[in-house]
Amino acid sequence: MSLQIEKLTPHCGAMVDGIDLSRTPDAATVRALEGALAEHGVLFFRDQVMTPDQHKAFGRCFGELHLHPAFPDILEGHPEIMVIRADANSKRIAGEEWHSDVSCDAEPPLGTILHLQEVPPVGGDTLFAGMYAAYETLSPPLRTMLEGMTAIHDGENAYRGRYGHGDAPGAVYPKSEHPVVVTHPVSGRRALYVNRIFTTRIVQLSRRESDGLLALLFAHIETPEFQCRFRWRPGSVAFWDNRCVQHHALWDYFPQRRYGLRVTIRGQKPVF
Ligand code: SIN
Repeated sequence: MSLQIEKLTPHCGAMVDGIDLSRTPDAATVRALEGALAEHGVLFFRDQVMTPDQHKAFGRCFGELHLHPAFPDILEGHPEIMVIRADANSKRIAGEEWHSDVSCDAEPPLGTILHLQEVPPVGGDTLFAGMYAAYETLSPPLRTMLEGMTAIHDGENAYRGRYGHGDAPGAVYPKSEHPVVVTHPVSGRRALYVNRIFTTRIVQLSRRESDGLLALLFAHIETPEFQCRFRWRPGSVAFWDNRCVQHHALWDYFPQRRYGLRVTIRGQKPVF
């Protein structure tokens, strides 16, 4: 069966058919998926059955796997797999704000593969937003100004106090400086690279200027026209590219249960 890729919206998201993710794809299929990921930002797959080892093997087709610096809910025996769960006992969920994953790392993850096994009858969708469009729709003088700038991405902003162990004296969180506009290494396109969870400061500006400009950019990134919204079913997989999309998990289904596993792929230092 050959790969079929159907674009979902003008700026982000594509549905992929004709592939069984439990079988390691051949090199040509991996290249096709890499190209589609760089173009569409997030790929969706339905009706997939994968063991944790098969999930990791699929992730390793695209790079080494990433170990999360703070997330506490790790699948036993699989340090590379995060358990994404919410139920009646949950106080919060992962990713409940616009972000790209772990952008506080010096080399943030290239991509993330989330496989959900249990979903509520309705709700629990994930929103994705295309950062090529976010950059390309800024007016030229603003684009020119941002192209020379860098920003601080601070893990403490996201993780301190969040998982119940982060307030220990001396706790150290990843913190990195990245370009505000990055060039995607596969597509060569430029993308806006600041997000609400991790980005705390534009280095070249005063605190007031930085706060004002980040507020403007965070609001711009959330423009509905840049987005697609994925409605999960049991067995669905989303594979997103943290270099050119941001995502936002919705928690509109409390106290119902949502459960799945996440593998994250290591990336390189972002460059302008
Ligand atoms: C995440 O940010 O990894 C969670 C996404 C989701 O649960 O939809």
